[in-house]
Amino acid sequence: MRAYLGRRYRLSASHRLHTPALSEQENASVYGKCANPHGHGHNYTVEVMVGGEIDAATGMVCDLAELDGCVSREVLEPFDHQNLNALGVFQNRVPTTENLTIEVERRLRKALRSDLSLRVRVEETSKNFFEYSG
Ligand code: NI
Repeated sequence: MRAYLGRRYRLSASHRLHTPALSEQENASVYGKCANPHGHGHNYTVEVMVGGEIDAATGMVCDLAELDGCVSREVLEPFDHQNLNALGVFQNRVPTTENLTIEVERRLRKALRSDLSLRVRVEETSKNFFEYSG
């Protein structure tokens, strides 16, 4: 029998939305206040949903401690309290929450058991959230 396990994590980071592909004026027009050269911060909520068969012996889809370890190692340690623009992965990609969500999914997909399905949802503010499932 298949079931889903959702787990929520907190991640604080700063970013500036800006692309060298556009002029300063175009950046300001596209990103508004988010293009401010000094950047700004978010307290993101990262929701991870894994799906799989319930293990007959443990009654679980996935060991929570294993999932927590994986998210800590792959997502929280590299991104928490960081300036996203300064990280290698965002050197050629604007650190929008769309791109952050995709990067979180990509890292977890590589680290989690391949038989588990995965969906990542990142809440940037109480009004904005983004989802990616590969
Ligand atoms: Ni922002």
